[in-house]
Amino acid sequence: MNDKQKQRSFEDIPEALRDIRVSHKSSSVNPKLIMIGLGGLVIMILGISGIMILVSSLSQPNTVSVEPTPSPTPTPSPETVENILGHLPYEEADPNQLKGITNDGRIKLRTKAADGFLRMQRDARASGIILTPISGFRTVQEQEYLFFEIKRQRNQDTRKRAEVSAPPRYSEHHTGYAIDIGDGQVPATHLSENFEQTPAFRWLENNAAKYSFELSFPRNNPQGISYEPWHWRYVGDPDSLKTFYEAQQLQNKPSQEGNRVN
Ligand code: DAL
Ligand code: ZN
Repeated sequence: MNDKQKQRSFEDIPEALRDIRVSHKSSSVNPKLIMIGLGGLVIMILGISGIMILVSSLSQPNTVSVEPTPSPTPTPSPETVENILGHLPYEEADPNQLKGITNDGRIKLRTKAADGFLRMQRDARASGIILTPISGFRTVQEQEYLFFEIKRQRNQDTRKRAEVSAPPRYSEHHTGYAIDIGDGQVPATHLSENFEQTPAFRWLENNAAKYSFELSFPRNNPQGISYEPWHWRYVGDPDSLKTFYEAQQLQNKPSQEGNRVN
């Protein structure tokens, strides 16, 4: 077919179909153009994204994307607990809420603690153990005598005295929930560390929790008070639990010289 014949045959194709044939022909011809087109498209998308990021950062005034330094979890520090020489403050129990636990009625505890102790004493007795109450509720005035007068008689330094006796207003005995217990068969060990060698102490170690009594000052206690195997406290109702465990919570009091618990 010569050029003239080619021209005529092209003109024979209806106008609406001519482009299809032409475009078909060209697509198979120029891949370079496709690459350039795609490149342009990518540049355009990147450009739009950049503009959007710029606009959004300008619309947030003064936002500096610096990660905040996490503050360390506050850990209870003995210096921030309100205490004096390691002893925590306690209210004096209402005398109407006390009940005698001895025949003469001189040693008293809060009613629930008294009932718990009497049950514990009865059950211990059934196992041949004699739990002897030595001291229960004490007034602030009685504690004042015990702390200052005994300290004076023994010529004791304040810190030394505080290792074994709470200053007035800071004794668990004010609450009516604390009790000093001895072994009725080994009175020589009363209020002494040797009490831990007695059958009464071993029985308490194994059974006191059943009656909701716990040792207040075990060895190496966080309050820094001397080990007192004879001193137990009742924690068997919401009030007693709150009394002792709330006292240990942070009070956010500024630390003071001499208030430190070592
Ligand atoms: N012996 C204890 C610490 C008190 O006096 O309460
Ligand atoms: Zn005691």
